[in-house]
Order: sequence, then structure tokens, then C-alpha cells
Amino acid sequence: MELPHGGGISRYFEQDAPDDVRDAIKTARKSDILNPDFPYDTRWKRSSYEEALEKLQIELVRMQAWAKDTGQRIAIVFEGRDAAGKGGTIKRIRENLNPRNTKVVALSKPTETEAAQWYFQRYIAHLPAKGEVTIFDRSWYNRGVVEHVFGFCTPQQRERWFSQTPEFESMLVDEGITLIKIWLNVGRATQLKRFLDREKDPLKQWKLSWIDVEGLAKWGPYTDAIGETLRRTDTPAAPWTVVRSDDKRRARVQVISKILHQLDYTHKNPAALAAIDTHVAGGIDLWHA
Ligand code: ADP
Ligand code: AMP
Ligand code: MLT
Repeated sequence: MELPHGGGISRYFEQDAPDDVRDAIKTARKSDILNPDFPYDTRWKRSSYEEALEKLQIELVRMQAWAKDTGQRIAIVFEGRDAAGKGGTIKRIRENLNPRNTKVVALSKPTETEAAQWYFQRYIAHLPAKGEVTIFDRSWYNRGVVEHVFGFCTPQQRERWFSQTPEFESMLVDEGITLIKIWLNVGRATQLKRFLDREKDPLKQWKLSWIDVEGLAKWGPYTDAIGETLRRTDTPAAPWTVVRSDDKRRARVQVISKILHQLDYTHKNPAALAAIDTHVAGGIDLWHA
């Protein structure tokens, strides 16, 4: 089978990956967590995960009914490095929800027309109306990180974006939109292992892009850009929730619980929400490379 992007991921793994990263991947057993900084050594048990997730999905359905009945507008932003688990988490959130009320917005790179507009303009078009939940799978935060790392924007454009983002978000909040910002954080070995799996899996290859391949060698610049972005956009009106996602199971349950904790929906069953594991989910102090 021909590998996408000329097998760039496996070539990087064999030739260029840092030794500790390669060793962590080579010696791992199936349930091992690859990031040595993650607070647990092994993945959460599947049965505990499935049980927790099912309870949360019932709560999400209740939340959706409340949002519709009371005309809430909820915007949830998902950010994080490639393979951080944004797509998989979003999939679990929307699984049992009505696609008419809960929309996922995953915009591709700006067209020529969009590039000639105000940077936030194309995102504004997708903000939720009353009764809607809009999930952004990547967002205006592209300018803080990937556009910067790959030189798709100028330093001046990025600085303007840094000065506008807190104002923009505070306008959304003043307007009555509930804005929830989630940053998923993975370690380097975790990311590389997920890329290797994607490269081999015909059902997942579409998730790999040349950005992912080229980005492998840009771990450090990504780290700097993310750190700066989190620091400069974590505001009282729109704070970040950082969730460490080296264990997808713990991460998904923590993300959904964090979201539901913030929403005061009717018929809430607080016992269905997972206790927040402060080693896995918290504020920007949880973020590090
Ligand atoms: P994803 O992680 O969403 O599967 P990629 O890893 O390919 O997609 O790209 C990461 C992000 O960078 C995407 O949001 C994409 O739209 C954006 N991007 C890619 N190329 C450009 C570009 N030339 N200018 C601005 N943004 C871009
Ligand atoms: P799966 O999604 O179970 O088919 O696993 C695909 C890859 O993702 C495997 O190589 C695992 O190492 C990794 N993986 C699966 N589940 C988890 C998890 N809970 N946490 C971290 N990595 C995982
Ligand atoms: C995911 O794992 O779904 C990612 O965060 C999406 C991506 O690779 O960009």
C-alpha cells in the first residue's frame, strides 16, 4: 500500500525523531501512556470510560433541550496540536445530538476572498443563533499558532490579532453568547504515534496533511507559539480550559464534564458529571510542552 505524503511520518520516525520519543513508542505496551509527564502510566479502563461517557451523553441531550427551549447560544472552540484528539472528542459530543441544533464548523484555509476580509469575518458567519450549539474544530486561533509557525501570516498581522482577540471574544460574551475554549494538549511521542497509526490506517489517512508531516520538525516553534497564545488570550471573560489528552479516554470525559459543569441546564444530574481531575483538566498552568 502506498503511504500518503511519501511515508513522511514513518521516515521521520526512523530517521529524525528524538531518541527518547522513538524509544517511548518502540517499547510501549498497548495500554501505555507515551508521555512521561502525563499523571498516569496507563490508559483508563475501557469499561469505566464507556460507562462515564454514556452518562455524559445523556446529560448532553438534556443540555441541548434546555439550549433550544431557552434560546441559549453556545460556542465551543476546540484547539490543540495536530492529533491532539479534537476530532474524536467532538465526535463523542455530537454523537447523540440533533445536527440541526449542534453544528460543527471546520473551516479550511482561507480562500482569496476570505483572506481579503477581516480575519474574524468568516468565523462570525458561523456563530450560534438562539437554541444552537456551535463547535469550532479549529478556529480564529489558527493565526496564533499554525499560521505563525508556517509563515502564513506576517508578524504584524499576528500582533493585530493578539490585540483584537480578547476584545472580539469579550464582545461575544457581552452579546450573551456562552463561549467555552478548550485546548487539548498532547506530548510529542503521543502525537507521533497517532500520526504513525493514521499513516497505516486507510480509514484515518485523510486526517494527515502535509502540514502534519512538515510540522513534525517544528515541535519547538509550535510549543513557543502555543505558550504565547495561551498566555495572551486567557482572559476573565473568556478563559482557557486546558485538557491533557495523552489518554483519549480521560480527556474526552474531562472535556465533556468541564463543558457541562459550566452550563446551568434544567434536569441536570450532577452525579452524572465526572469529578474534575485537576491533573488532567484545568487552566493554562496545566499547559506545558
Ligand atoms: P487539520 O489539522 O485541521 O486536519 P491541517 O493540519 O492540514 O488541518 O492544517 C492546520 C490548519 O492550518 C487548518 O485549519 C488549515 O485550514 C490551516 N491552513 C493550512 N494552510 C493554510 C494557509 N495557506 N493559510 C492559512 N491557514 C492554513
Ligand atoms: P484505537 O483507537 O484503540 O484503535 O487505538 C489507536 C491508537 O491510538 C493506538 O495506537 C493507541 O496507542 C492510541 N490510543 C488508543 N486509545 C488511547 C487512549 N485512551 N489514550 C491514548 N492513546 C490511545
Ligand atoms: C484529532 O486528533 O482529531 C486532531 O486533533 C485533528 C488533527 O489532527 O488536526
